[in-house]
Amino acid sequence: MSILFTNIAELRTIDAEDTVLRDAALVVEGERIAWIGRASEAPAADTLVDVGGRAVLPGWVDSHSHLVFAGDRSAEFEARMAGQKYAAGGIRVTTDATHAVGDYDLTRLLLGRRAEAAAGGTTSLETKTGYGLDVEEEARHARLASTIADTVTFLGAHVVPAGTDADEYTRLVTGPMLDAVRPYVEWIDVFCETGAFNAEQSRAVLEAGKAAGLGLRVHGNQLGEGPGTQLAVELGAASVDHVNHLSAADVRALADSWSSFSLTDPSSPRGTVATCLPACDLSTREPLAPARELLDAGVVVAIASNCNPGSSFTSSVTYCVTTAVLQMKLTVAEALRAATHSGAIALGIEQETGSLEVGKYADLHILNAPSAVHIAYRPGMPLTHQTWKRGQLVHG
Ligand code: NIG
Repeated sequence: MSILFTNIAELRTIDAEDTVLRDAALVVEGERIAWIGRASEAPAADTLVDVGGRAVLPGWVDSHSHLVFAGDRSAEFEARMAGQKYAAGGIRVTTDATHAVGDYDLTRLLLGRRAEAAAGGTTSLETKTGYGLDVEEEARHARLASTIADTVTFLGAHVVPAGTDADEYTRLVTGPMLDAVRPYVEWIDVFCETGAFNAEQSRAVLEAGKAAGLGLRVHGNQLGEGPGTQLAVELGAASVDHVNHLSAADVRALADSWSSFSLTDPSSPRGTVATCLPACDLSTREPLAPARELLDAGVVVAIASNCNPGSSFTSSVTYCVTTAVLQMKLTVAEALRAATHSGAIALGIEQETGSLEVGKYADLHILNAPSAVHIAYRPGMPLTHQTWKRGQLVHG
């Protein structure tokens, strides 16, 4: 089945040249984009969708979320807004709340969160385990996550359970826990931070994941300077996420990892994406990640929601993009790319999605606005008109 989307006021392709077409049309054949061009030159199709003079851009690629959870930590948030510091210990509160919820209810929560993300224009979704923290629960969370997310990350090394020795727990993560989650996950992650896992433990987690055939991701430099970013680059991680507290050497290491990369050469080597999480930065009152400095240094920067009940309870990538423009000083084009194509690079799916190009998935975000500039120009407004994932309407 083919669909012609026409009367597109602005088509933001996010291709290598950042092509923006006016009065455009786009044809979808099955799951993929078959044609893009001027509306007046569009070929016929089985179905016509009149976009009504709206803007179309790629669906958001949310490359960092923690959706497998139950419970509420709004009291912790309120205390933080009154001056208390964010600390990793709250993760254990959510772990207890999630253990208490059965598969049926947890699946309902997950489906609701996926629907919320789609309603905000997200078409590709990564999510993590990390509120299980024992073998059985981590495996259950990985299994349930794999039913709603496009890709799942194993984050057994999120925090050390209370009353447990950190080295002993690391051995559990890298042994029986990794074996139990392996059928459901593509990535391994570690929270490399004071109060969570040190450099040696983080290295052990990442190396075990690599040996098991998983891609690597790191939570690094969220709460202070530390070894997370350099470890991520050294081990060839696809991304290091948070990056609030970077030294000059961290920025250099990230930039060096991209020195042979070219947007126009799909076979050029990828480095470690710096994933910034603006909603989390605001909700934890940490300094905003230095996205501007990273881009200027030549680092590929992604923006993601980090949706979780502790540090960032929103799946709105639109909000994150707005914040990146208004507060992190990215241009609109840079922020849009960070939340689409660069997020796709962070997940290794940029050949399939993250930009609107012939042959890629028809993952479309149609705005209730004539231009994607409105995302930052009209902050907080509900601008998602429709979301299409692989040629299917998933919201609107
Ligand atoms: O990415 N930093 C560690 N993990 C989450 C927070 C989880 C929580 O506080 O529940 C994050 O911010």
